[in-house]
Amino acid sequence: MLNDLSSPAALAATRRSGKPRDMVAPGPDEAQLRRILTAAMRVPDHGKIAPWRFVVIGAEQREAFAALLERAYRVDKPAPTPREIETLQQFAHQAPVLVAVLSTPNVERPIPLWEQELSAGAACTAMLYAAHAEGFVGGWLTSWAAYSPEVAEGLGHPGARIAGFVFLGTPGKEPEERPRPDFDSIVSRWNG
Ligand SMILES: Cc1cc2nc3c(=O)[nH]c(=O)nc-3n(C[C@H](O)[C@H](O)[C@H](O)COP(=O)(O)O)c2cc1C
Repeated sequence: MLNDLSSPAALAATRRSGKPRDMVAPGPDEAQLRRILTAAMRVPDHGKIAPWRFVVIGAEQREAFAALLERAYRVDKPAPTPREIETLQQFAHQAPVLVAVLSTPNVERPIPLWEQELSAGAACTAMLYAAHAEGFVGGWLTSWAAYSPEVAEGLGHPGARIAGFVFLGTPGKEPEERPRPDFDSIVSRWNG
């Protein structure tokens, strides 16, 4: 079922993250995922660099992804506990669809690195809104894995930073609303 698209503001006002561990099938099918990823490619991108890459980790690759996480985890912690291994497995297998978003700036170009990295964050956010518009829920997680050079390399992008893992699916339970910032404490008018 599509979410309320009666206005862009309605769409934005109703987006909430889902907990990836609570997500169930169906997730976006190939056509829906293509639309979601295409929307994410339309984010502002100073210099037309496309400083991001999206790596879809399909259902049949989740076991290999779990193995990659375990190898990477063991670099810093050679003897993980069974509980830690279970957490890695759970992370790798949760939610019907998983997309790793990598920040892949081009430092030869005269666009500040910060701007290129912001664009990767924007791509994650755009993915969440597009998924919401398609009737799904999304969750953007990093965890230690996003900071592991071994994981980035294992995903085919050595040297890149991982902006996040975006999980997509159907909420197994209604996502909880959380307190939102107070408008006036965030927004001010500059008086010169
Ligand atoms: C860059 C980034 C990384 C995040 N990583 C995690 C994470 O590893 N674990 C987690 O529970 N939430 C993480 N979050 C928070 C969730 O994505 C989400 O924003 C939060 O649950 C609030 O939900 P909301 O989007 O409905 O406000 C992260 C958010 C951002 C922006």
